[in-house]
Amino acid sequence: MTLSNRYPSVADLARKAKRRMPHFAWEYLDSGTGAERLVDENRSALDAIRFVPDFCKGAIEPVLETELFGKTYSAPFGIAPVGMSGLMWPGAELILARAARDRNIPYCLSTVACETPEEVAPLTGGNAWFQLYPPPDAQIRKDLVGRAWSAGITTLVVTIDVPIGSRRERQLRAGLTVPPRITPLTLWHVAKRPVWALATLVHGQPRFRTLTPYFDASEFKSAGTPVGRIVGGRPDWSMIEEIRSLWQGTLIVKGVMSRGDAERSVACGADGLVVSNHGGRQFDGGPSAISLVPGIREQVGDRCKILFDSGIRGGLDVVRALSMGADFCLLGRAFLYGVAALGARGAAHTYDVLREDLRNNMIQLGAGSIADLKNQTRWHMEEKA
Ligand code: FNR
Repeated sequence: MTLSNRYPSVADLARKAKRRMPHFAWEYLDSGTGAERLVDENRSALDAIRFVPDFCKGAIEPVLETELFGKTYSAPFGIAPVGMSGLMWPGAELILARAARDRNIPYCLSTVACETPEEVAPLTGGNAWFQLYPPPDAQIRKDLVGRAWSAGITTLVVTIDVPIGSRRERQLRAGLTVPPRITPLTLWHVAKRPVWALATLVHGQPRFRTLTPYFDASEFKSAGTPVGRIVGGRPDWSMIEEIRSLWQGTLIVKGVMSRGDAERSVACGADGLVVSNHGGRQFDGGPSAISLVPGIREQVGDRCKILFDSGIRGGLDVVRALSMGADFCLLGRAFLYGVAALGARGAAHTYDVLREDLRNNMIQLGAGSIADLKNQTRWHMEEKA
């Protein structure tokens, strides 16, 4: 049995990941905020986008290579920033970085990941991006931005949609704290996952390695979390402007949900923005992310690139997002399910599943290139009716 027979879909990888991860880590990765209505809404809005294919177009071999910010990637999707990836699977960031290099897609390292930009960037073959939760302290902001640039990273993703940490009820029930603390409950969860436990022993305890220069280890022993102090800022647009002036490379604003914030991102000099609701993890009262893409595309036109995430689980979803007006897609959970399910081979396998699904669906539809799909509602069922 090959990997593609055993795990032909992201859902297969998620099932396997759940069996390999301690319960608290699974709940952290998989959950949304509140009642998780938005997680479902992200999915149902994507599922509702239906296409009517064109047939008799002869042989089609879709070209999936996609240019973004002057680089050609092998597909129109990449790996979204996921904090504490190393908790999901030990060394996950390193696995994702190598897959980004081998499959030629971008990997965006989170500020609150367990490995540093200095370690990760060299593994990606030039495909590393760095995600910044803008620290309230100007000196730390400047230092983090400078470190990413010195590590050879030229794309900075500034996340704006976390004004405060969110309440994730499943995570609370599972006893996960940030940073993770050892309690009888978490020890019990770990004891039931010996492969994860052993791998963690070998790799070392997951820590916020990028941020360690900015706090004293003793801070972790106190009740509050230093992570909140360092990155728990409430960014405003002047801070985004300041980051723009500090950063010579490509700047992307992540978490844009309104035309107004899209316009402000462009005014601050953003080269791209990510239409996202953080995968339904922040504010359960909002709309599906995909429903916002057409309006934001109309607002910004060609003035900046539009990336999309939140709910993508297969190649068909990538087709959907591009047809709604996105230029590029990111996936968070899907890649981590792959890594937790299959370890070192997992991220590349997630890519292979997505790429094959994308290719197949493009042929089903009669689309020969990414340009054929982008902002092309002519395929949509309603337009053809
Ligand atoms: C995230 N996301 C996220 N975003 C960000 O800008 N910085 C971060 O540190 C994190 N951390 C994080 C942890 C976990 C466990 C998840 C699942 C997500 C959001 C992420 O970048 C992306 O927006 C969503 O994951 C997209 O939704 P899907 O693809 O997971 O459905």
